[in-house]
Amino acid sequence: MRISVIGCGYLGAVHAACMAKLGHEVVGIDVDENKIRALSEARAPFFEPALDDLLKEVQATGRLSFTSDMAAAHGSAVHFICVGTPQKKGENAADLSYVDAATFALLPHLEAGDVVVGKSTVPVGTATRLAALIQGAEPGTHLMWNPEFLREGHAVSDTLRPDRLVYGVTGGSEEHEAVQTLDAVYATQLDSGTPRLVTDLPTAELVKTAANSFLATKISFINAMAELCDAAGADVTLLADAIGMDERIGRKFLNAGIGFGGGCLPKDIRAFMARAGELGADQALTFLREVDAINMRRRTRVVELTREICGGSLLGQRITVLGAAFKPESDDVRDSPALSIAAQLQLQGAVVTVTDPEALQNAALRFPELHYEKSTDAALNRADALLLLTEWREYQCLDPYETATRVSRTKILDGRNVLDATKWRAAGWMYRGLGRP
Ligand code: UGA
Repeated sequence: MRISVIGCGYLGAVHAACMAKLGHEVVGIDVDENKIRALSEARAPFFEPALDDLLKEVQATGRLSFTSDMAAAHGSAVHFICVGTPQKKGENAADLSYVDAATFALLPHLEAGDVVVGKSTVPVGTATRLAALIQGAEPGTHLMWNPEFLREGHAVSDTLRPDRLVYGVTGGSEEHEAVQTLDAVYATQLDSGTPRLVTDLPTAELVKTAANSFLATKISFINAMAELCDAAGADVTLLADAIGMDERIGRKFLNAGIGFGGGCLPKDIRAFMARAGELGADQALTFLREVDAINMRRRTRVVELTREICGGSLLGQRITVLGAAFKPESDDVRDSPALSIAAQLQLQGAVVTVTDPEALQNAALRFPELHYEKSTDAALNRADALLLLTEWREYQCLDPYETATRVSRTKILDGRNVLDATKWRAAGWMYRGLGRP
């Protein structure tokens, strides 16, 4: 099939490459010329494992192209909308200006029979509004909502082998003709047994925000338990292992630490609360305010713990922060808890050096006042305290004996509870985890 993908960020670039891998003829469209140039040269404009290789592979087939010209969408049977929906400045609600602009720009290029498929995370009700808009412009078209559940760092495999496919369609009927069109797009996944659920438009939109809210709640739950473990002298990692063995609970997303960040979970729970308020159902989601508050307290807690391990004052203390990205295998620093903690420490008088294998360029754009060091060895040099804040494999594998020879003082705060405390203590380190004795 001929497919257009509008918006070539973390979601769209991966989606375009994966659709071409599945055998479709794909054009990726974005207003950002720099992104288009990089993608046209088969270079991912951000770090995502496996994406560069996939771009090279599919571009060699001639099935994938990129352009900034929306007219290229003309002639595609399916148009995926993959633009961002960031948090509005000064408000909790989602900023829909990119979704609206992309849809308006697409209207003149639609033909009867085309299917427009929204993948962006939007407040419930958006799809119904956009469906009326595109049908007003071209009555023979259809709008579907097909939320995306990919994780950064695993985006290619999550897109090629999703857990499930959710199709939102007006009326929610399996018999809707657009359902067959999307089935043809995802034929490979459906043939390999991926479950598919057909819903009405609002349910499909809510599936996405509900899933992210559940994940955020799970993380904040275990972080609340970490607070209690700290108060009671218990170990949250063992507690998570034990409750996670109950299949109804499950161990995934029960890693206590500095909390969640990134371009999705934090803004999605806030936009969800804002939308619930507009719908007069704000009470249903007041618990998400607590989820957000628990998450934000993690950052303050780490700053306080760092002050404590530095002997009561941060002034002039040389702190090395291992990790700037919001999670490993990503160069994304949007609402990164690691970077937020680094900036707070610096503001409170510490001399902070930040290192990260992939995210330093993005980090420097966001917090130019921090000192960045590409080499881990150089970053460790003469540190008074180490903070492991993003659990990249290379930091998890640090040798405590070797590391001890580089720093000024052997103090480490493990913000992700990933190090072997016994091993580090045996090597003479003062080790502190979060929610661990
Ligand atoms: C999240 C969802 O997991 C995806 O399913 C969804 O498609 C995506 O948002 C989106 O809406 O686009 P992502 O933002 O890539 O994916 O990151 P996650 O893997 O969910 O991690 C989010 C944050 O939670 C990270 O900062 C991570 O370090 C933190 N986290 C995760 C924990 O603190 N503890 C855990 O146990 C798990």
